[in-house]
Amino acid sequence: MAIVTSTEMFQKAYQGGYAIGAFNVNNMEIIQGITEAAAEVSAPLILQVSAGARKYANHTYLMKLIEAAVIETNLPICVHLDHGDTFELCKSCIDGGFTSVMIDGSHFSFEENIALTKQVVEYAHAHGVVVEGELGRLAGVEDDVNVSAEDSSYTHPDEVEEFVSRTGVDSLAIAIGTSHGAYKFKPGTKPQLRFDILEEVGRRLPGFPIVLHGASSVVQEYVDMINTYGGNMPDAIGVPEDMLRQAARMAVCKINIDSDLRLAMTGTIRKYLAEHPDHFDPRQYLKPARENIKQMVRHKIVDVLGCDHKA
Ligand code: G3H
Ligand code: 13P
Ligand code: ZN
Repeated sequence: MAIVTSTEMFQKAYQGGYAIGAFNVNNMEIIQGITEAAAEVSAPLILQVSAGARKYANHTYLMKLIEAAVIETNLPICVHLDHGDTFELCKSCIDGGFTSVMIDGSHFSFEENIALTKQVVEYAHAHGVVVEGELGRLAGVEDDVNVSAEDSSYTHPDEVEEFVSRTGVDSLAIAIGTSHGAYKFKPGTKPQLRFDILEEVGRRLPGFPIVLHGASSVVQEYVDMINTYGGNMPDAIGVPEDMLRQAARMAVCKINIDSDLRLAMTGTIRKYLAEHPDHFDPRQYLKPARENIKQMVRHKIVDVLGCDHKA
């Protein structure tokens, strides 16, 4: 198996009513934990690299680690740039072997977003690389934001056909109420997503893959672990797993998860070091962190996304 684009993964996911997990990677242990889980249950994978991850770990190191994972697991793995913000960054990732890039022009005007996305699509497609665009902006919804301002962050379904046809993007991230990070919904409130928007987008773009960012469930076990062993995280609420299952049955083919990996890694390391205050070999605390990432990713693949045995 080789590093692949997401084209075939998305076609099958759309038809099969499941979603592919897109997990953010920053180092070897994270890559190993995710890919070992996927290999055990034969799941296709998207490993995504943010600009920050690329700056932290270096493009070549991450690329070579992912190439190693493909050799070790024999899985189809798509290597994706997460939240590319300039043409130059996307070009650099395409030239460096990524098979998919996101150009996030969601903070620009509709016309500027189209122009930038189209420029990236032209270069990417000429190099056999696929592109994810974004319409609508992800944000935490605050109590004191008035309704129209709140609404303005959601994707407007009446814009999606024009955006997709004028840019030529291969997938589209939309905003339906999720947000990045661990604090997605106000404590004490019931998490709500705008499935009506997702449904309308799906109706307007039949068969077209939709992407859900900000999709960590914020696994309570790890928030508790962090707080039990010296951390001080306020109440954190993520996207309930049932909502992810529902999105996966609809037009969502790619579900982005980063925060849950961070929580699992940090919680596990905190616990290990608290229980073994005399240990200082990084392998001793990175090993259980890698194992817990693996177990969590396996759970998401099998019990939430439904992409096991689809590689
Ligand atoms: O959507 C953002 C991802 O969680 C990546 O975060 O830019 O801190 O690497 P990062
Ligand atoms: P989370 O912060 O919910 O994990 O979202 C990650 C993401 O959307 C990466 O693009
Ligand atoms: Zn994101």
